[in-house]
Amino acid sequence: MFWFDKHEPHTIYCDERRVPYHEYYPGRFLEVAPDIQCDFRHLPFDDETFWHIVFDPPHLERIGCRSWTREKYGQLPATWPEMLHDGFAELWRVLKTNGTLIFKWSSVQIPLSDVLKVLDKKPLYGNRSGKHMMTHWLAFVKFQDVEEDITLF
Ligand SMILES: C[S@@+](CC[C@H](N)C(=O)[O-])C[C@H]1O[C@@H](n2cnc3c(N)ncnc32)[C@H](O)[C@@H]1O
Repeated sequence: MFWFDKHEPHTIYCDERRVPYHEYYPGRFLEVAPDIQCDFRHLPFDDETFWHIVFDPPHLERIGCRSWTREKYGQLPATWPEMLHDGFAELWRVLKTNGTLIFKWSSVQIPLSDVLKVLDKKPLYGNRSGKHMMTHWLAFVKFQDVEEDITLF
């Protein structure tokens, strides 16, 4: 949904679901058509494959089983802390050293601070967006873990 080009040729779209194109609400259409259907906790990629990753997991735990919001964004299980921890760790594995991971979170039900506790890594910076400023965009960088002098110009 948030990609300007839904077939951007350098990008691999992943999701565990496939949902055929349909009208989910009068006049509104949805399709979930990932390039690779997979679980973000078990990705079919080698270590250190990508320079840039966007992680946009479901953010709602309590949601009607037939609601269109669930159909659009999916649902978090009760075991979401473990799920997000394992998913983030798997994305970190396939991220190249010095690569960037963008994490999107909407804190309508679960505060960002609770999510950050389970991710193990600290974001470098972030931004809030949306009408109620509840959507957070955070940047994580997988820095090379070496101590070296950096010359500032
Ligand atoms: C917020 S939506 C992502 C929307 C996407 N960023 C876009 O622009 O269309 C979250 C997606 O995560 C998917 N998802 C949930 N659990 C998953 C898992 N374990 N592995 C892969 N995808 C999962 C859901 O099916 C849902 O489509």
